[in-house]
Amino acid sequence: MQTLIINIKELLQVRETAVDKVSGAEMAILPTIKHAFLLIENETILDFGEMINCPKIESNNIFDASGKIVLPTWCDSHTHLVYAGNREREFVDRINGLSYEEIANRGGGILNSAKKLNETSEEDIYQQSKVRVEEIMQQGTGAVEIKSGYGLTIKGELKMLRVIKRLANNYPIPIKATFLGAHAFPLDYKENHAAYIDLIVNEMLPKIADENLADYIDAFLETGYFSVEETERIMIAGTKHGLQAKIHVNQFTAINGIKACVKHNALSVDHLEIITDEDIEVLKNSNTMPVALPSCSYFISIPYTPARRMIAAGLPLALASDSNPGTTPSGNMNFVVATACIKMKMTPEEAINAATINGAYAMGISKTHGSITKGKKANFIITKPLNSFYEIPYLFGSNLIESVFINGTKL
Ligand code: NIG
Ligand code: FE
Repeated sequence: MQTLIINIKELLQVRETAVDKVSGAEMAILPTIKHAFLLIENETILDFGEMINCPKIESNNIFDASGKIVLPTWCDSHTHLVYAGNREREFVDRINGLSYEEIANRGGGILNSAKKLNETSEEDIYQQSKVRVEEIMQQGTGAVEIKSGYGLTIKGELKMLRVIKRLANNYPIPIKATFLGAHAFPLDYKENHAAYIDLIVNEMLPKIADENLADYIDAFLETGYFSVEETERIMIAGTKHGLQAKIHVNQFTAINGIKACVKHNALSVDHLEIITDEDIEVLKNSNTMPVALPSCSYFISIPYTPARRMIAAGLPLALASDSNPGTTPSGNMNFVVATACIKMKMTPEEAINAATINGAYAMGISKTHGSITKGKKANFIITKPLNSFYEIPYLFGSNLIESVFINGTKL
C-alpha cells in the first residue's frame, strides 16, 4: 500500500545519506525541503523531494499538507513511564520547602514509588502505564525507552520488565527496555550495599537475561546513591549479559562518573546538569551520547544541562523526557524541545536534531528511526498550519500536532 503526503510546506530532518548522530556545529544544521512530498510504501519511507518531482500515484491515501510542517516523530530515549500510583503529595511538600533529597531521606522519592509498585498487580501497572504510552504517541513520540527501577526486588523488577515487554508487543512504536535495579538501595540494604549489588548481579540479571527482558542496563550514579565503583560492577555485569549501559549520572554532583561510563562503553550518559570541563573532555572522541532532560530541571528547579558549553566543545547532545512520577510527571517531548530552546539556549534546529536523530542513537535505533531517509520507518508528525518550524518551540503551550503516523499508518 502506498501513502502520499503532498504540498508539505517544509519537510524537516531530511537525510539523503543516513547519519547515526550529529555533533557540535553540525547540530545547528537541520536539512529541510520546502514545498515537498513524502511517499510511503507500507511501513517505510520510499521517496521524498520537491513537489515538482512528485510521482502521480493512484491511492486512497493522499494527504494534503498545505501550510503544514512534516518531521520525524520524537525519539524519547529516557523514561520511567511504567509505574504505579503517583507522587503528587511530594510535589506539594516541595512547594512547601522540602528538597528532593529531604523527601528521599524521609522514605519518599524512589522508595515511595517502589513500595506502591510492589503492592500493585502486574495487570494494574500495565493498565496505568498504557495510558501514558498512548498519550505520548498522540504527542508525537514514535519510539521510547522505558526503565525498570521501581521494583528493587527480584519480583518487582521482573514485574516491571514484563509490563514493558507487553507494551512493546502491543504498541507499534519501538519500545526499548532498560534494567535499572540500581536505582536506589532498598531500606533493608542501606547498611549493606554490596549485598544489594550481589542480588542485582547474581540473581536479577541472569533471570532478566534468560527471559530476554532488557536491552540495556542503568544505574543512578550519584552521591548518596550508587558510587562510581558500585556502578562499574553493574556495568561490567551488564556487559557480560549483553546489556550495554545507559547511566543516570551528574544530576546533582560531579564525581568522575562519566569517565567510568565512557570506559565501560556506555551508549549514553543522562542528566548532566552538573558537568565539569574534564567530563566534557572525556566525552569527546567517545561513542557515548550525552542526554539532557530539561523537563526534570524545570520540575524540580535544578540547573539545566549546559548545552551551549557541550555543543561548543563539539559534543553531540540528545534530548529526552525522563517521564517519571517523582522528577518529571510528563512525557511530552514538545515541551522538552521548547524548554531546551527557552532555557538551554538551543536553537530550534539543534533541539530538533537532539530529539530525533540523536535520541534514536541514544536507544540504538538510528538505523531505522530519527530522520526522513529512504528505507527508514515512516514515523512522522504532520503539524497544524504554521508560519515556520520555529513556532514548534515558540508556541510552547499549544498543541501544534495535527496527526501522527507510525509505520505509515495514521494514529
Ligand atoms: O531520572 N534520578 C533518578 N531517577 C529519576 C527520578 C526517579 C524518581 O524520583 O522517581 C530521574 O530523575
Ligand atoms: Fe531518569
